[in-house]
Amino acid sequence: MITQDVSALDLQQVLQPIEHATGLPNQAYVSEAFLAHERESVFASSWTGLWFASDLPKPGYVKPIDFMGLPLVILRDKQDRIRVFHNVCSHRGMILVHEEMEVQGALRCKYHSWSYSLDGELKGTPHLGGIGQHRAPGFEHCEHGLKPVRSTVWMDVIFINLSGDAPDFDEYIQPLNEKWQGYLGDTGLERMRSAVNGKGMQIEVRSNWKLAVENYCESYHLPWIHPGLNTYSRLEDHYHIMYGDNFGGQGSLAYRLFDQAGSPLPRFPEWPEDKLEQAEYVSFYPNVLLGIQADHTFTMIIEPVACNRSREHLRLYYVGDDAVGDEHAASRNAILESWRVVFSEDIDAVEGMQRGRLSPGYGGGVFSPAMDNPTHHFHQWVARKLAAA
Ligand code: FES
Ligand SMILES: [Fe+2]
Repeated sequence: MITQDVSALDLQQVLQPIEHATGLPNQAYVSEAFLAHERESVFASSWTGLWFASDLPKPGYVKPIDFMGLPLVILRDKQDRIRVFHNVCSHRGMILVHEEMEVQGALRCKYHSWSYSLDGELKGTPHLGGIGQHRAPGFEHCEHGLKPVRSTVWMDVIFINLSGDAPDFDEYIQPLNEKWQGYLGDTGLERMRSAVNGKGMQIEVRSNWKLAVENYCESYHLPWIHPGLNTYSRLEDHYHIMYGDNFGGQGSLAYRLFDQAGSPLPRFPEWPEDKLEQAEYVSFYPNVLLGIQADHTFTMIIEPVACNRSREHLRLYYVGDDAVGDEHAASRNAILESWRVVFSEDIDAVEGMQRGRLSPGYGGGVFSPAMDNPTHHFHQWVARKLAAA
């Protein structure tokens, strides 16, 4: 028994070759107990997308974030590093940071005013040893700092590894990095800029987080769900992506650069001229969806809110400082609007699959051995995580 919801036998069936495999059973999508189990077995042991580093633009910016019920706080410290801590005071367990803010000095708990540096060190403990005595014999401040969460930043995403024992991020990201080097080159990542207008959006979806990932992995639905997109980037222009164990999705050979709605946007200088119409859409398992085109990228972090509810946080990025100036505002807005249409078209499909998982007439379904390979790749990744837990 893996949980009361999903058995070892269910997982074995997912782990079969695609021709014989079934998908994850309904209970993996409709049970709150299973979602709680996934937080530990799937999310905690992985590199999970939490938030965007560019939302903390200066040292001293602090933001509380609830992740699947865990109170966390992200901040930019005085050395300009992004840090993640458990958002709880070491004294009596009060939530430490209640709202997004810019901190001048220390983080101060509002209950008994214990204070912490942005490095998480416990600094101030008023009247700890009695009135006017801010120290106490035997009390070591260094033992009571904030509890850090292992974290790193890549493509503006703050990734966390809650268990602390995932492979090094550099090792984890290597298969994707290697592939995308061919488009972004050595300088692509550092050229990415988040724009104020045309920056992104938030989408509420009444579905389990996995269905959003599964839908993103496939291009099979394109002609029927995205008729507009399909007029130029057709089903037959797409190819499957399965880079190593942790990344799956699809690429297009016929993405049309958005240069008709305003001034052409700057492109990644190392993007090959003969691949300007190529684009890749990759799910970084478990919960980050990435898209790269020659003139912009986007990132979506999927926040699991409940077993049947997710929140998608989208950000768009452009190439270099000029790309985020006023001159290109119309082009950026056109790009954002295009993606708004595409992502909105997906909502209905994803929510319909969620409702379908309440049916006893469905038991995980089957995969097309030619069209659903990345979706199966993701199911296998989840099944391996569950089996290992
Ligand atoms: S709980 Fe934070 S200072 Fe007491
Ligand atoms: Fe879609």
